Amino acid sequence: MRLTNTTALITGGNSGIGLATAKLFVAEGAKAVITGRNKETLAAAAKELGPNALALPADATDIAATEAAIKHGAEKFGKFDIVFANAGIAGGTPLGSATLDVFEKVISTNLTGVFFTVQSALPYLNDNASVILNGSVISVLGIPGYSAYGAAKAGVRAMARIMASELSPRGIRVNVVAPGAIRTPIWGPATATPEAEKAFEKRIGMMTPLGRLGETDHVAKTVLFLASDDSSHVQGQEIFVDGGAVASPSGAPIYRG
Ligand SMILES: NC(=O)c1ccc[n+]([C@@H]2O[C@H](COP(=O)([O-])OP(=O)(O)OC[C@H]3O[C@@H](n4cnc5c(N)ncnc54)[C@H](OP(=O)(O)O)[C@@H]3O)[C@@H](O)[C@H]2O)c1
Repeated sequence: MRLTNTTALITGGNSGIGLATAKLFVAEGAKAVITGRNKETLAAAAKELGPNALALPADATDIAATEAAIKHGAEKFGKFDIVFANAGIAGGTPLGSATLDVFEKVISTNLTGVFFTVQSALPYLNDNASVILNGSVISVLGIPGYSAYGAAKAGVRAMARIMASELSPRGIRVNVVAPGAIRTPIWGPATATPEAEKAFEKRIGMMTPLGRLGETDHVAKTVLFLASDDSSHVQGQEIFVDGGAVASPSGAPIYRG
């Protein structure tokens, strides 16, 4: 077990990548505090994760609520060794029809919320802790329709390096996991029916060198690496978990003759 005697905070731990990571962390011996807004899915996740997990409602855009959840979690399980700032939303902001409301919501959740999660956690973090921020391939790919989402994730990538330099004196590591398209509820209508999911899976597979849609475990296992001592000399880095989409796009099936 790679996380024995550790305590982890996972924002957005009641769905998708966050929930898969919480399950893996608990299986590896950690105690996990998960947050989210949806009380029903929080309760379901708590049941699934068992006694070594605590599920707390906290909106990542509400700094006071985030601080309160972190304090509560630390009181129950002790100071944190791992923070996975994972909570995030999608939201289209195509040039020509974007609204300020959606633009600001995406930035406040995916960028501002990430910063204040880390800042709020600092007093409750052990020295030599590992902080992992959830980025995205969109930080470096020009995917149409997603200026706010891309700007937020590019901001996450930049912030991680700054945080890494600020927190190195305490031995705290800050790295980014940057997923490509992963099968989670974040895709909404694109994957809402079995037919839609099949078509989506096919489209992503065509654009991905490894020819498939990513799964939550692909990301969770990379987060485990960044959380554990296996990555104890990895600082300020970004690991893409995208089947090669960013590094080797020409290897995708769509380009094969
Ligand atoms: N799936 C992909 O293809 C993909 C690709 C690249 C990056 N990512 C990133 O991966 C992260 C997780 O997404 P996912 O794909 O696992 O989607 P998901 O299944 O929709 O999970 C998103 C999680 O974030 C939580 N969340 C959203 N807004 C929140 C807020 N204001 N306060 C607290 N929690 C909030 C949600 O819980 P509540 O709804 O209960 O609040 C949920 O647990 C996101 O940062 C996303 O940008 C995903």
